[in-house]
Amino acid sequence: MDRNRKRALGAAGAGALAVVVAVGIASAADAAASTLHAAAAEKGRYFGTAVAAYKLSDSVYSTILDREFGMVTPENEMKWDATEPSQGSFSYGSADQIVAHAQAHGQRVRGHALAWHQQQPGWAQNLSGTALRNAMVNHVTQVATHYKGKIYAWDVVNEAFADGGGGGRRDSSLQRTGNDWIEVAFRAARAADPAAKLCYNDYNTDGQNAKSNAVYAMVSDFKARGVPIDCVGFQSHFNSASPVPSDYQANLQRFADLGLDVQITELDIEGSGSAQADNYRRVTEACLAVSRCTGMTVWGIRDSDSWRASGTPLLFDGNGNKKAAYTSTLTALGGGGPTSSPPSSPPVSSSSPPVPSGGCTATASVNQWQGGFVVAVRVTAGSGGTNAWTVTMPLPSGITVTNSWSVTRNGNTFTNVSYNGHINPGQYTEFGLQATGTAGTLTPTCAAS
Ligand code: XIL
Repeated sequence: MDRNRKRALGAAGAGALAVVVAVGIASAADAAASTLHAAAAEKGRYFGTAVAAYKLSDSVYSTILDREFGMVTPENEMKWDATEPSQGSFSYGSADQIVAHAQAHGQRVRGHALAWHQQQPGWAQNLSGTALRNAMVNHVTQVATHYKGKIYAWDVVNEAFADGGGGGRRDSSLQRTGNDWIEVAFRAARAADPAAKLCYNDYNTDGQNAKSNAVYAMVSDFKARGVPIDCVGFQSHFNSASPVPSDYQANLQRFADLGLDVQITELDIEGSGSAQADNYRRVTEACLAVSRCTGMTVWGIRDSDSWRASGTPLLFDGNGNKKAAYTSTLTALGGGGPTSSPPSSPPVSSSSPPVPSGGCTATASVNQWQGGFVVAVRVTAGSGGTNAWTVTMPLPSGITVTNSWSVTRNGNTFTNVSYNGHINPGQYTEFGLQATGTAGTLTPTCAAS
């Protein structure tokens, strides 16, 4: 926490100090958030990255990962070829390593991807018809069960629609098992892990076009028929041949208007300098403008980590230095230096509740199902802002906590992690936990420092 605070002050410089002095707050509570995830969290969003298990031992890599990101997506480790290399025999070593790292650092996990026509093991590539359908359902069930309670959202089905103007499904061996293969996969995932959000994920669907229209029609149909789907992922791999579409925000919004979350899942934008920075700013602003855009993930940390490394599409250069695109993204999220410092009093619109005085308040909302529940706890800073906070929330006996995120838990005591201790006056952050059993009424209390 102190580390982050010093960094925030250092980056903000004299301008932010002047603001702090002007409002008479002795701490740096008004300094803008200094990392991507902290800034996103202040907007109620997550900021994530794709992670490769074999790079976790690279200290430049893991230092940036743990400083800047609050959500991780295994880049390859949860794919079918990695998790079920021979039929019925599952291998979770590398994916488990990423999940363990995330849990140890207060990060959440996007699972990627349960059913996809690519990166299938050889044995699955040789199957068709009923045998392939059954193998797919078993795969979804086994993998989602293994990670039950540990996944924020699953890409249940990836890239099932065709490119071009046809507006139909992509031909694949999975598609040839019958048009209902997608909903069957979603139902199997829901049965295995009822707490994970279930997403459909695709590329070239970022603007309104024949492909995104076809996905839109499928999602509308799923919602109408009660097929379990909670989110749509927009990969957002951009370059000069596939630029950020002018109707990006409008397209995210129309999906959100169907009553589900939207997420930017694999963002990378080829280019350099101010042009690249401007594109990252546009994408970030688009997500923030859509209330159900719950977060964004970049597809790697340094340019050298990218699957499209020659296009230098990421936020850090090969040495781990922040690029202009990093700064524009952080600024768009409301973080960074003095130019983006919050006003000396928090913006309170006429409809907003007044900022409570004192340290902080906490509220819990419970999503209970047969046998288990998820609690989302919102920590709202009072007029002094917070540098660190502790929530005390008595939990009923007979429950077992299976997972928690964005918090350090010690029994009934929950303390901020590095990126969310700092909350500006009137702003909030959220953490969560999942448990088996019955929650009943939960009454958290909050103390700030
Ligand atoms: C890519 C990985 O980044 C590469 O390391 C791998 O060789 C191929 O797959 N769409 C997706 C991702 O959904 O899983 C892909 O990831 C990039 C395109």
